[in-house]
Amino acid sequence: MSSNIRALAAKCCFQVVEKGRSLADELPKQQEKVEGKDKGLLQELCYGVIRYLPELEYDVRELIAKPLTGKQRVAHFLILVGIYQLKYTRIPDHAAVGETVNGAKPLKQLHLKAMINGVLRNFLRNKDKVSDKPLPDAIKFNHPSWFIKKIQHGYPEDWQKILTANMQKPPMWLRVNQHKNTVDAYQEKLAAAEIAVSKQDEFSKALLLTRAVDVNKLPGFFDGEVSIQDGAAQQAAVLLNSQAGENILDCCAAPGGKTCHILELQPKLKAMTAIDVDEERLARVEDNLSRLGLSAKTIAGDAGSDSWWDGQQFDRILLDAPCSGTGVIRRHPDIKWLRKASDIDTLVILQQQILKNVWSLLKPGGTLLYATCSILPQENKEQIQRFLLDQQDASLVNIAQSQQEIGWQILPDEQGMDGFYYAKLIKK
Ligand SMILES: C[S@@+](CC[C@H](N)C(=O)[O-])C[C@H]1O[C@@H](n2cnc3c(N)ncnc32)[C@H](O)[C@@H]1O
Repeated sequence: MSSNIRALAAKCCFQVVEKGRSLADELPKQQEKVEGKDKGLLQELCYGVIRYLPELEYDVRELIAKPLTGKQRVAHFLILVGIYQLKYTRIPDHAAVGETVNGAKPLKQLHLKAMINGVLRNFLRNKDKVSDKPLPDAIKFNHPSWFIKKIQHGYPEDWQKILTANMQKPPMWLRVNQHKNTVDAYQEKLAAAEIAVSKQDEFSKALLLTRAVDVNKLPGFFDGEVSIQDGAAQQAAVLLNSQAGENILDCCAAPGGKTCHILELQPKLKAMTAIDVDEERLARVEDNLSRLGLSAKTIAGDAGSDSWWDGQQFDRILLDAPCSGTGVIRRHPDIKWLRKASDIDTLVILQQQILKNVWSLLKPGGTLLYATCSILPQENKEQIQRFLLDQQDASLVNIAQSQQEIGWQILPDEQGMDGFYYAKLIKK
């Protein structure tokens, strides 16, 4: 395969949409085939197509009578890549069309070259015509219908705002390793490197950058002075509030962002145990600990059972539960197509099982912080509401702005953060 970027983007999007692979896994495989700046363009094209998929599919349906199928299917994605460039990038039209059409050859679709050229030129001719055809919400908002319905139901006032926030390119947040620098001292290093900070979150001290930068440009990144972590995720360790001498469990820990943050904030713990059911992902916890010069006991284990447990109860537990990921769609737009409505009930049951099991590992008086990067009430406030009804020895600590709320639901782009949920529980 030659390194025609459009062809690589088409291959990647085909793998995600038709084969159900994750964008985070597929994109690096294609990026390996190109150099430097082209990696960025490839990323922009793949993320763009996945973000705007329903709308681009609609455009194609207007232009091609019979959809491309079978071995030609990858060419359908090449056309989507072409239309995305014409609608949403500043690449000159002639270059976008020319490069996209050239992508047919490495995809072994040379016989479709003229057709692809015709479709893209046809699109360009009609691009500025205003249509008064009403579009379904799934196309207008570029989300699956089942998800739109759930968001409309959960957030009758805010659903459009949420869907619009999910379409944005995510900002970059930093977590300063306070073992190595104060946040102020690190901000000076950023200023010296001409990296602008647009705000600091008051509670967690997370820094929001004005513009995303390459990690290589971040002062001291490889020496563990700083990590990349969304502002919402940085609330976890602060809310958990571990104290010196305590025994802490992070029971769904990989890739370890929150484990490391807990250790950065409280260096005098008695012990920190990080478990994850996925051994490969657990290796990333170890990489992160080692980059930051931290240590924890890492165990590959199922948080829904206690087969891995040494019998010592914990003072505090972070349960960053496996979830739908619907709060981080702006970072992972493929979630919209990989998640199915039926997954949600399964996830809710899994969360319930893990919650029940780890509750039994908590000392009386101990704290459990339940977290998800979901915005679906089923996984969040409804999950905790039911837990409080079933578990008489659990009480809720108020961490939300409003006393009536069960837990703290952060919506996507609220104060620049990802969508996240936290509930803090105390064992009586
Ligand atoms: C939301 S991610 C955790 C992110 C992590 N806390 C961080 O901040 O980097 C959820 C994790 O739960 C893990 N997981 C799923 N089911 C599990 C189970 N039964 N026991 C333990 N870990 C599980 C997944 O492998 C995944 O790594």
